[in-house]
Amino acid sequence: MRRKLIAGNWKMNLSYKESEKLAKNITEKLDPKVMQKIDTLVCPSFISLGIVNKAIKDTEVKLGAQDIYYENDGAYTGEVSASMLKSVGCEYVIAGHSERRKYIHETNKIINRKVRKAIEFELKPILCVGESLEEREDEIFEGVVEKQIIEGLSEITKESMKDLVIAYEPVWAIGTGLNATPKQASDMHLFIAKVVSKLYDNEVAEALLILYGGSVNGKNAKEILSACGVDGALIGGASLKADEFTDIIKIGAQI
Ligand code: 13P
Repeated sequence: MRRKLIAGNWKMNLSYKESEKLAKNITEKLDPKVMQKIDTLVCPSFISLGIVNKAIKDTEVKLGAQDIYYENDGAYTGEVSASMLKSVGCEYVIAGHSERRKYIHETNKIINRKVRKAIEFELKPILCVGESLEEREDEIFEGVVEKQIIEGLSEITKESMKDLVIAYEPVWAIGTGLNATPKQASDMHLFIAKVVSKLYDNEVAEALLILYGGSVNGKNAKEILSACGVDGALIGGASLKADEFTDIIKIGAQI
């Protein structure tokens, strides 16, 4: 069984001080023996990246950003560049979260530019894909996700795929308490692997980490993380509670 990745996406939550406190609480609760078996990552807001980096220093917890801009530097007010993220200790960056697709109108093309910029600067992109409830009900969800992957990975070389992670986050399951069943998650993860295999080859598809995201919590983590093809989780709400987040990490390490 492959080593899993449990990532916390703190979204637009927590002040600077609260972020520091949560990061400290998480690291205090993590058993080093557990951490030998699993990878863990937290993604605070931009303003808290520095303080969280300090709080997780000397631990196995890694740092990720929730977004990135696709230009190197210059007059792009409000944006944050890849080199800025690197300078503050980020190893990962989320690209194409459904909330950014919905509220900020990010397209597959924009997201692809972000993924490419992350790779150029040796940041590991977590490319988020997933269908809306309407798309699932209309049974076009596979096509939607396939397009997100094909366009999101445009011009990404086989060599760069080793550092890329895909997160399948069905929009209808995010923050709703409605999670995909293990079978729904598993079917989509296997489908995503098939799409990646067609784009590249079997070797790339087999090595690719595919996370599930959408209402993962301490209660459902075991069955979701045990589902075939699920290599970890991208967690929103439950990652804001140190006890629950570290419980999920422990569960992931045992599978
Ligand atoms: P929730 O775990 O709150 O449903 O959020 C999932 C998510 O969007 C993680 O990126």
